[in-house]
Amino acid sequence: MKNSKVSIAVVGSGYVGLVAAACFAEIGHHVTCVDNDEGKIATLRDGGVPIHEEYLPQLLDKHRGERIEFTSDLGSAARQAQLIFIAVGTPQGKTGSADLSYVDAVASEIARSIQDYTVIVEKSTVPVYTNEWIRRVIARNGVSPELFDVASNPEFLREGTAVADFLHADRIVVGADSDRARELMRQVYEPLTSGSYYRVAGAVPGPHHESAPVPLLETSTKAAELIKHASNAFLAMKISFINVVSNICEAVGADVEHVAQGMGTDKRIGPRFLNAGIGYGGSCFPKDVAACRYVAEQIGVDFNLLAEVEKINAEQKVRFFQKVRSALWTFRGKRIAALGLAFKGGTDDIRESPALDIIQHLLHEGCTISVYDPAAMERTADIIPASDNMHYVDDPYEAAKDADALLILTDWEEFRHLDLEKMRKAMRYPIVVDGRNMYEPSKMAEHGYTYLSVGREGTYQPRELLADRKIP
Ligand code: UDX
Ligand code: UDX
Repeated sequence: MKNSKVSIAVVGSGYVGLVAAACFAEIGHHVTCVDNDEGKIATLRDGGVPIHEEYLPQLLDKHRGERIEFTSDLGSAARQAQLIFIAVGTPQGKTGSADLSYVDAVASEIARSIQDYTVIVEKSTVPVYTNEWIRRVIARNGVSPELFDVASNPEFLREGTAVADFLHADRIVVGADSDRARELMRQVYEPLTSGSYYRVAGAVPGPHHESAPVPLLETSTKAAELIKHASNAFLAMKISFINVVSNICEAVGADVEHVAQGMGTDKRIGPRFLNAGIGYGGSCFPKDVAACRYVAEQIGVDFNLLAEVEKINAEQKVRFFQKVRSALWTFRGKRIAALGLAFKGGTDDIRESPALDIIQHLLHEGCTISVYDPAAMERTADIIPASDNMHYVDDPYEAAKDADALLILTDWEEFRHLDLEKMRKAMRYPIVVDGRNMYEPSKMAEHGYTYLSVGREGTYQPRELLADRKIP
């Protein structure tokens, strides 16, 4: 790689900031990771990795002490950096708007530290106009306009695959309003946009390579902010769309997986994000759909479509809960095995996880839950402590022991390859309610299960069919 090393500070060492910092170090830059959570900084300095992300431990081990360091002192980090990426939380506020108070506070502190020309970069997902507000806050704190620019560089990282998503991004979007800022951002991403990173031994594998580098999309700051929100809102809409189609499939007896495949082979639609399930969760889609709708309303544009996206998403959890009821009839005293807590497979993140909503609802109805998740049990136990009715267990078969029903709530890959005979023998009744369509109904019927899933006909054990009639 060309040695165009840039000194970078990343403020906010969460799911986005820590991954960005590790990847900037991986492509050759010097990075100072800043966080106001002293505990998190201490963990990172000691070699710990506070989040579950593929490749992240390896990259941090490779660059810790060389190209990446950790501090809670934002002022000193800002003084040394040519680029300061703001990646602090932008949680959803009460009105649906993004809470930008952390961004505001960080921008003010950065302003008090700037000594040489610095580019402040929005990495967090922020609504349009945030760039102007950051510029205003920095100017208000007495920094002269020649000494800084504010750029927008939204991230499109999916949790669980964030490192690969960063180093093999579909595109890098940079919103900048000055040539100086644009030039510095080009320098930062040059190893990826020239492809030189991909010929380095030990480069993180992915679809890009030296002759097929990542495209760089340069635009205005406002367009860059809108690209992020509109992309997430569109993806959430696509999920709600296939979830409604799954409900139609259930009503008419079609298989939503076949319908999704038929839709997705149209290149204009594409096969991804067409998996029907229990609704989307996570720290981004719910927040970004609400923020996108809020911003539109503020500027007088009716984006009611997104209200429907939210409504369908909430309804999908209710429908799944009713499906569990239709399998069990009553809840009180029933033993439920639950596989999955994270909002999706591959991550330990439980923010806005539909699995947690469903489990809390079942606990409220008097069920006893035995739950297994490969990565998210520790975080969940902070919210739902282990009790007589809530058991955290070490594997799916222990969860299944004496269960009246088993629910699949998170699409962890390992849940796709369960030993169905062993699981059936462990259960009190062979009833599976699958919120992620991880099995073929015919295969579950062969193994003697009553199997209910999303957007597909249920399979019932002979004993379940009273007088050849399926109980509604
Ligand atoms: C966050 C936003 O939630 C998301 O919308 C955006 O796209 C990227 O940044 P995430 O990394 O998941 O995503 O946030 P989080 O995991 O909450 O990490 C934020 C980090 O910033 C935390 O470690 C927090 O301690 C730190 N922080 C927060 C600061 O260092 N200073 C602050 O003032 C506030
Ligand atoms: C999302 C965007 O994909 C990413 O570009 C952005 O930077 C941050 O938000 P993330 O929230 O980490 O990433 O996960 P994602 O893989 O998008 O899944 C979001 C939710 O949608 C999960 O609950 C997932 O289970 C659900 N989902 C996803 C579906 O229900 N069906 C699908 O087909 C895909």
